Amino acid sequence: MVQHITLTRPDDWHLHLRDGAMLKGVLPETARHFARALIMPNLVPPVVTSADAAAYRDRILRALPEGSTFAPLMTLYLTEGTDPQDVAAAHASGLVKAVKLYPAGATTNSHAGVRNLDSVRAVLEKMAEIGLPLCTHGEVTTAEVDIFDREAVFIDTVLDPLRRSLPELRIVMEHITTEQGVDYAREGGENLAATITTHHLIINRNHILAGGIKPHYYCLPVAKREKHRLALRAAATSGLPMYFLGTDSAPHVDALKEQACGCAGCFTATNTMALLAHVFEEEGKLSNLETFTSLNGPAFYCLPLNEARITLVKHELAQTFPEKILTEAGPVTVFNPGFPVHWHVDA
Ligand code: DOR
Ligand code: ZN
Repeated sequence: MVQHITLTRPDDWHLHLRDGAMLKGVLPETARHFARALIMPNLVPPVVTSADAAAYRDRILRALPEGSTFAPLMTLYLTEGTDPQDVAAAHASGLVKAVKLYPAGATTNSHAGVRNLDSVRAVLEKMAEIGLPLCTHGEVTTAEVDIFDREAVFIDTVLDPLRRSLPELRIVMEHITTEQGVDYAREGGENLAATITTHHLIINRNHILAGGIKPHYYCLPVAKREKHRLALRAAATSGLPMYFLGTDSAPHVDALKEQACGCAGCFTATNTMALLAHVFEEEGKLSNLETFTSLNGPAFYCLPLNEARITLVKHELAQTFPEKILTEAGPVTVFNPGFPVHWHVDA
């Protein structure tokens, strides 16, 4: 029996598009299925000012395939030199939908990030005043903290104190990977939300490390043990309003993933919607897929729902996805879930 599901066209609330040849190569993969995406600002150099964001948005629009109506939603990269007035102007003009906090050293191109939250206090207060969300890469970077504990320690030592001192600040816990993240977001009230990636619903740390190291499963925050993956699945498929999709699809050319010190990032733009249909069906929650991919995000960001729709079809035969996207920057491996997927976005 052929099964169909039609959804409000989804949005991706956490996406890396890069720039130049990579942007050109990966953008169609997202624009094919998604109406909008929140574009991460960790370019080299980062997207810090409203002028940087306007110029980057123009480059994205120019790289779109002919006829595409995909809309990039821009973010600013928070630095210790960020000007609160520039942030306010970027928000007032509608250009920028969030500001991204990268603790310095936490991940790819985060060295210009924040070392001391006190030094960005004026920016955070301005954001709280105008209702502009802060998106957090929620990991501490202290060498003494085990990499598998960095998210939980961030919640206790950075996020919770910040929320207590500035409760009006709207915050998105990006790409949560732990039971602690799931629990904290659930109890946080209307000013707190969390994005969940596709790959963290599928892999745990064994997938990265057992039976040989799999560089294409390495991302940050790194996938945790199985109980955390199960907590993420329960949260994503719950239909609760604080959880929504942010794929964190993060392309790196194969040469930079498959080396002695490989980059962090899973590239899931190509098959994300099919994989999510598989996961939600497995959980018996296909009816909540639209809530997660298309309804909760716009509600948190106070944006209208998309009018267009997409249809996913479950085929008799397992569907094939390209193993790699061939960009002019080099080949980028598409996330391989390691099981057959029968779902496909058909229209
Ligand atoms: O795995 C990741 N890749 N995590 C991040 O936080 C950044 C991203 C990237 O930009 O490659
Ligand atoms: Zn990211």
